[in-house]
Amino acid sequence: MLESGKEFRCIVYEKRDGVAWITLNDPEKLNRLSYEMRKELKEALEDASRDESVRVVVLKGAGKAFCAGADIRAFLEMTPLDALKRAKEVGTSTLAKIIREAPKPFIAAVHGYCLGGGFELAMACDIIIASEDAVFGSPEVNVGVIPGGGGTQMLPRLVGEKKAKELIFTGDRITAKEALELGIVNRVVPLDKLMEAVNEFIEKIKSKSPIVIAAAKEAINASLEMPLSEGLKYEMQIFAQLFSTEDQKEGARAFFEKRKPVWKGR
Ligand code: COA
Repeated sequence: MLESGKEFRCIVYEKRDGVAWITLNDPEKLNRLSYEMRKELKEALEDASRDESVRVVVLKGAGKAFCAGADIRAFLEMTPLDALKRAKEVGTSTLAKIIREAPKPFIAAVHGYCLGGGFELAMACDIIIASEDAVFGSPEVNVGVIPGGGGTQMLPRLVGEKKAKELIFTGDRITAKEALELGIVNRVVPLDKLMEAVNEFIEKIKSKSPIVIAAAKEAINASLEMPLSEGLKYEMQIFAQLFSTEDQKEGARAFFEKRKPVWKGR
């Protein structure tokens, strides 16, 4: 496992009280996803996913933005082969896969610009909490490409085909309030209350059994991958497996004993 506070160049990685905090830290360039940042991000995401002491992971941006997307400078000389190699190694879909498969919730705490690959990274998270000044968008068409880190696949699932096409064809930016109305974000709060809202959510998650939260995430993720009939069967399996855990018995017992359950995570 990585030490909390391990020195990275483009991110800050801290682990405390069961939470891993990953801060994109290239504020001069609005936290654009450089190759180096992506490599560090991958290492931190993998560590946070594996480390059983970490219950929740938060992604946030340093400075005035969450993330202004892929590093457009790298696009200048990029060949199709480079693009494919890089996407497989550290592309946003590759990072998103780590987030989706991790048995714990990931929260994106978004303020300021959240564009392109930054928007994809936030969409890959389980929960998005945004400040009122947050601006979301998929402006890739403006620089001659399409979203390449899962945007064309995740956005229609979130907002429906028509709105996704509108946002991706036009590259138009939307406000946090519009994102809330579209179901892209979970909550919008004033900027100075962003961390408070994130911490409130973290405390709720930490008061539940980690294996139950992991099971819920796995079942919900399956709903996006499977036809309904298969998804229902999958859910039944995961549901049934929980009856082999101590936490399930503890939850039911605590209900009748009118006390808070004491979770063991097994
Ligand atoms: N890739 C590379 N560099 C980026 C970047 C990106 N995605 N986004 C911002 N930067 C750099 C700028 O080039 C600038 O660098 P400089 O100070 O050396 O000139 C610095 O970050 C600050 O950005 P700037 O454009 O001056 O800030 P702004 O407040 O005027 O505008 C944005 C902010 C987000 C609207 C604008 O930076 C932008 O449109 N960024 C690109 C967003 C995008 O298209 N993302 C998807 C890429 S596929």
